[in-house]
Amino acid sequence: MDTRPIIAANWKMNKTPQEGQEFATKIIEKAVDITGVKFLIFPAATGLFNISEVLKGSDIGYGGQNMHQAEGGAFTGEISHSMLTACGSDSVIIGHSERRHVFGEKAGDRAEKIATALTNGLQVVHCIGETLDERKANRTEAVLREQLTQDLCKLEGYDLANIVVAYEPVWAIGTGVVAEPSQVVEAHGMVRSILADLYSGLDVSKLRILYGGSVKSANAAELYACEGVNGFLIGGASLDVDEFCKIGSIVHNEIG
Ligand code: PGA
Repeated sequence: MDTRPIIAANWKMNKTPQEGQEFATKIIEKAVDITGVKFLIFPAATGLFNISEVLKGSDIGYGGQNMHQAEGGAFTGEISHSMLTACGSDSVIIGHSERRHVFGEKAGDRAEKIATALTNGLQVVHCIGETLDERKANRTEAVLREQLTQDLCKLEGYDLANIVVAYEPVWAIGTGVVAEPSQVVEAHGMVRSILADLYSGLDVSKLRILYGGSVKSANAAELYACEGVNGFLIGGASLDVDEFCKIGSIVHNEIG
């Protein structure tokens, strides 16, 4: 089981296929010296094929920012697991806050997507996190429990070997506001204990939980030092290959 810290780039609706390919070419060179961390890149679906041309055979993983649970059919605008794997993807993000809050993704669909992705050999980066109102109302634990319970309801404990949870407080995504270390430690501890409740016998210590929300090189060391943080899911700061690799180097230095 891979337990290396993960440094993941979520490009959202940014970068043409050509720009993605240029980034991939550069990261291949730069990543040679950044050992012990696993890089993952999530381009827009249109960019997957181009980055696969560069990254196939390398240790740098990549995949989709979302997928549909069906094998194929009349689902305009969607992509399937087999389309992702045909481009060499090894991972997929499910449940990103923008899918939940901007596009109204439903919990039942998320549960299906996660089960389908795992069954078909894709690692799932499962995003969860509370809104500011929910935090202010002291509902963070309840929200994380509800999201994990609903989204993972189709899984047995052993399925979780190929899941990476990304804790991303909604109020920290793209805002420049970063969660305080104490909030990060607390939330990551909650996620582990909720999963231990849901899946007795699961070794939650091995589960990787990423932090996401305004991560950049200037705050990466402090955030990575937080207990229970096993890497990052990075939006804005992942668009620049030097900045993204710098975050990887910081984690590489922290793990010695
Ligand atoms: P951000 O995005 O790093 O720009 O806050 C993180 C994410 O949405 O995954």
